[in-house]
Amino acid sequence: MSTYLVTGGAGFIGSHLSAALISRGHTVRVVDSLVTGFRHNLQPGVEFVAADLADASAATAAVDGVDYVLHQAAIPSVPRSVKNPVESHRANVDAMLNILVAARDGGVKRVVFAGSSSVYGDQPTLPKREDMPTKPMTPYALQKLMSEQYGQMFTRLYGLEVVTTRYFNVFGPRQDPGSPYSGVISLFIKALIEGTRPMIYGDGGQTRDFTFVTNVVDGVLRAAETPAVAGEVFNVATGGRVSLNELLATLKKILGSDAEAVYEAARMGDVRDSQADITKAERLLGYRPTVTLEEGLRETVAWFKSA
Ligand code: UD1
Repeated sequence: MSTYLVTGGAGFIGSHLSAALISRGHTVRVVDSLVTGFRHNLQPGVEFVAADLADASAATAAVDGVDYVLHQAAIPSVPRSVKNPVESHRANVDAMLNILVAARDGGVKRVVFAGSSSVYGDQPTLPKREDMPTKPMTPYALQKLMSEQYGQMFTRLYGLEVVTTRYFNVFGPRQDPGSPYSGVISLFIKALIEGTRPMIYGDGGQTRDFTFVTNVVDGVLRAAETPAVAGEVFNVATGGRVSLNELLATLKKILGSDAEAVYEAARMGDVRDSQADITKAERLLGYRPTVTLEEGLRETVAWFKSA
């Protein structure tokens, strides 16, 4: 059994990773600033430290005695980074650099970094493959790219094992619908349950490779455990894509709702189409998404209804 540090473990994805690690018998320390995370997401059995990893001494203390780091802490919003790039840079880049230095000096076996499909930007070629050129269109995308490149550089310069998982629109239970920056699925479900009209930015024809969180947990744990993949970048997704209009239609069907969307102007920096090629993760990590979009949506709706 190993000791894992899950940064951002009071957040959505970090809390699911913590739960999976605990159920496999590992020891889990969570560090979270509680800026976008919540105490109520902390899983039973984790050790919790409230700290801001943009502070180097907090990062050093966080990795003490740790075998693996799953670095999930972030301000994970594209529009929030457009509005406040400095705040978002601190959370998304400074913290990563501190974690890398601390992991290098602390003898950590591997760091898995939560990257983002936003680094691909608006290139017309689909699906997006890891060896395609990147084209960040927002501060958030640039920060995620910079952090994954820092990771690769630490592998080359210092031999620290770092693997990046590029997430594609993750959704599921515990995703917080409480801010206009929240993930679209959580916002749509909240609106439909409360009987308000969901908001669509643009014409709703933009597409995303929505990925249920259970699939992501599987991809991240494989990225942590698979030998000989240090320095690699992997798409973690399902390999499909649906438009926001199709997504809303499916959610309306699941919830038995006839609410009509309100259409607003498209968001600045919004990518039109996003779909992953997942063959690299399948080939090198043995990754395969096991939960379909509709199954994931049903499970997420059930959780929102009970929460
Ligand atoms: C999302 C993630 C980001 C991740 C990236 C990877 C969230 C909050 N952001 O960005 O962390 O790195 O995927 O692909 O999960 N929209 C609406 N109505 C709403 C909210 C959003 O129409 O009420 C639209 C947006 O304009 C966008 C799409 O839905 O076209 C998805 O938006 P969002 O859920 O914020 O995710 P991304 O910006 O794709």
